Amino acid sequence: MIKNICCIGAGYVGGPTMAVIAQKCPHIKVTVVDLNQDRINAWNHEDLSLLPIYEPGLDAVVGEARGRNLFFSTEVDQAIDEADAIFISVNTPTKTYGVGKGMAADLKYIELCARQIARVAKNDKIVIEKSTLPVRTAQAIKDILDHTGNGVNFQILSNPEFLAEGTAIEDLFAPDRVLIGGDTTPEGQVAISKLVEVYANWVNRENILTTNVWSSELSKLTANAFLAQRVSSINAMSELCEKTGADVNEVAKAIGLDTRIGSKFLKSSVGFGGSCFQKDILNLVYIAKSYGLNEVADYWEQVIIMNDHQKSRFSKNIISTLYNTVSGKKIAFLGWAFKKDTNDTRESAAIYVANDLISEQANIAVFDPKVEADQILFDLNYLETRTEADNKKYISIEKNGYDACNNAHAIAILTEWDEFKTYDWQKIYDNMLKPAFVFDGRNLLNKTELEKIGFIYQAIGS
Ligand code: NAI
Repeated sequence: MIKNICCIGAGYVGGPTMAVIAQKCPHIKVTVVDLNQDRINAWNHEDLSLLPIYEPGLDAVVGEARGRNLFFSTEVDQAIDEADAIFISVNTPTKTYGVGKGMAADLKYIELCARQIARVAKNDKIVIEKSTLPVRTAQAIKDILDHTGNGVNFQILSNPEFLAEGTAIEDLFAPDRVLIGGDTTPEGQVAISKLVEVYANWVNRENILTTNVWSSELSKLTANAFLAQRVSSINAMSELCEKTGADVNEVAKAIGLDTRIGSKFLKSSVGFGGSCFQKDILNLVYIAKSYGLNEVADYWEQVIIMNDHQKSRFSKNIISTLYNTVSGKKIAFLGWAFKKDTNDTRESAAIYVANDLISEQANIAVFDPKVEADQILFDLNYLETRTEADNKKYISIEKNGYDACNNAHAIAILTEWDEFKTYDWQKIYDNMLKPAFVFDGRNLLNKTELEKIGFIYQAIGS
């Protein structure tokens, strides 16, 4: 029976998943460790509104379990030593150097974890891949553990996380399924059953799926590829809708009622963001190519190509609609996070649209209810398109949506935060330059109402 869990990586996955395990399993001690002292301090912050991650409901879960059987620490060695089961939940970004640059997953953080576990472990451990990893990574982890360890036995399981940011707690409380992959040997099956027991504290056993380790690893990449592919498919149709007088919302509804297709994930937008979809598809493309499966690789790569196109055609449309020049014009950005109800901005469409418009010398005024000013500047600087000083010159960050829209030529909606729907749009219109434009990258607002006020309103796909 697992009594002591260590999770390496206190990020968007490690933090919420371990908080929920600890809340649901008071008999298990859960320690989440990270190298990042600031992040750990924030997880330990007395004021639960200052946790490093914003997720609805997370504060209550942490509030209940923290200090009881949930701990956040930078003492990585100690937590590894004490644990029976170690989750690896570190970041696996796209490689930015060397072979596979821009495509393959960078596994250096995973390897460092494996080496650290091997060095520290003095008794048998179950090591669980929680991070999203290329298929066959478990083999690499096993090689490292078996060759550098202290002669102890390791079982490697794959337990990918399917939570969606913004609904992480809901998803963790009632997952569609929990997936656990492990070795087909008797020892592998014992390890699987131990992890099943942990989840069975709150998840129905029918929803806990066990597979071999490679199926589990590949299922996560496949799930993200399918989800992203639906977004790119509907976005591809949005462009055709704009040319033909069809309305993408109507098309999505009409096809979604077909139970073979289903209605979820058919919302057209400025393009998907987030840390996972692009990274995981690029990784899939890289893996397919490495096996010489070029048609498979090309098929999935098109999902990314379509997404990039959707972002760039949104910027181009703003420029051409504003009489082919945005130089010196103020454009208000409502939203910066990659989706609502999260403060995560990784790969957010807003970053790329802002970058395009700043290249045309537009002045961007951003408001996002949950994203800090420093993060917005960091995201732009990370692209290395221009100097930090130049980025600063063209971007301002406002404390509320109304200030962002004051005296603006146009508003671009980049995140579907609910609060934008409740704004006093007449007041916003009154304080803008005319003609006043709204480019709704999330099809969030009511076209008829906005046009009645006097806005020139453009949505995606209609
Ligand atoms: P993150 O970047 O928020 O967190 C990773 C954490 O690991 C960081 O705080 C980092 O300091 C820490 N870390 C890295 N190396 C370490 C080491 N050697 N020792 C201790 N700490 C270390 O990343 P996030 O978003 O939590 O993602 C983690 C993994 O989960 C990735 O593989 C991702 O693809 C996967 N995933 C992410 C989802 C999401 O919604 N963000 C959903 C499902 C899976």
